[in-house]
Amino acid sequence: MGCFLSEKLSSLKAYRGPIFHFLKSPEGACPSDSYEYFEDGILIVENGRILSVGDARELLPKTQGIKIQTYGKNCLILPGFIDAHIHFPQMGMIASYGKQLIEWLNQYTFPFEERFSDKEYAEKMADLFIQELLKNGTTTALVFCTAAKESVEALFEAALKRHMRVIAGRTLGDRNMPTSLLTPVQSFMEEEEALLNRWHKKKRLLYALTPRFAPTSTETLLKMVGDLLTQHPDVYLHTHLSENLDEVAWVKELFPWSSHYLDVYHRFGLVRPRSVFAHAIHISQEEINLLSRSKAAVCHCPTSNLFLGSGLFRWKNCKEASLLMAFGTDVGAGTSFSLLATMNEGYKVAQLQKSSLHPLNAFYHATLGGAKALYLDSYIGNFETGKEADFIILDLAATGLMERRLQEAKNLCDRLFLLMMLGDDRSVKETYVMGDRVW
Ligand code: GUN
Ligand code: ZN
Repeated sequence: MGCFLSEKLSSLKAYRGPIFHFLKSPEGACPSDSYEYFEDGILIVENGRILSVGDARELLPKTQGIKIQTYGKNCLILPGFIDAHIHFPQMGMIASYGKQLIEWLNQYTFPFEERFSDKEYAEKMADLFIQELLKNGTTTALVFCTAAKESVEALFEAALKRHMRVIAGRTLGDRNMPTSLLTPVQSFMEEEEALLNRWHKKKRLLYALTPRFAPTSTETLLKMVGDLLTQHPDVYLHTHLSENLDEVAWVKELFPWSSHYLDVYHRFGLVRPRSVFAHAIHISQEEINLLSRSKAAVCHCPTSNLFLGSGLFRWKNCKEASLLMAFGTDVGAGTSFSLLATMNEGYKVAQLQKSSLHPLNAFYHATLGGAKALYLDSYIGNFETGKEADFIILDLAATGLMERRLQEAKNLCDRLFLLMMLGDDRSVKETYVMGDRVW
């Protein structure tokens, strides 16, 4: 990089402080090959994209005339977090007491989601939802809406206003739900194509076909979803898989021909690249192998899985099969919007299975690994030149307790683990989307 021309200076911004990002998955004997950590680094952004990242001593001479924003040694500049499974309409019913999946859906979720056919209400909630994501350092999200197209429009509009990367779609289902939440099957193709054509690839937005889960889908609906995916291979598929044992038994009853839960989706062409299956707790090795062969992704939602008592996601088995994996908060069954809090619970879920989720592994899947699971790693996930400048400034001393513990942190992994175990939205000092500060 040479000296910058003066006319370019106005579009250039620089951020100085400790910087950390991944180059690849932290596996093998030398995980330090997988990331770059600059204790005193500079990130240069041009027109909303990454121009350069590196050590301040090397880059400073090349930043003459550029305004530099400086952050202290207790901060960490990191790519924005990726939440690969969250329900926008469920923000208002988070922390609903006392039930497991099926009863929780019937008692709390379905009645709440019925509110979102009211356009004004949907717009108000969509705005609050996007703000809450940004406040928590989440810059990309794969989101469930409701059956009402108003909810989809409201969410995409709110994301568009902030130039945010959001993948979403209308929640589909044609049985076992209140009538007002059912997808009208006769007009399905026409309505879904209209939504898809309107929103898919509009600026940074992407569309996902979103059947709620197998128990609320007939074979007719699943076939139509499969047909649409064949016509639009770069559209996403987003659904739930094998979250709860009663749900798994119900799927067997509804689809007696299926050899396992995933087989139901597979039969209709729903298991493919750009398919994301939330939870995937009670899956067999056969299902893991099918997911791996199909290059589909699973999303681990630990706060939800503990809250609903659904079970323990087998991270180690999925990792051994090299599955594409991301984290999801799954609000409102999930109890936090924070990916830091989500990693915290993920660590405990692994501990209960006598395994340890290393902070490098966790942060990888919340950033670059999540981007790979969503097939977005050529756009986001790290600070490679040309990528979209979505990044966050974390404060490692956001609370008195964190500040105290930080004094004992000896190296990068200590610092990451501290963030992962003690951090939450209070640690997110600033959030940038396409180079603009939005929080
Ligand atoms: N399975 C089907 N719908 C849902 C939902 O809204 N939340 C969760 N956690 N699981 C589901
Ligand atoms: Zn969910």
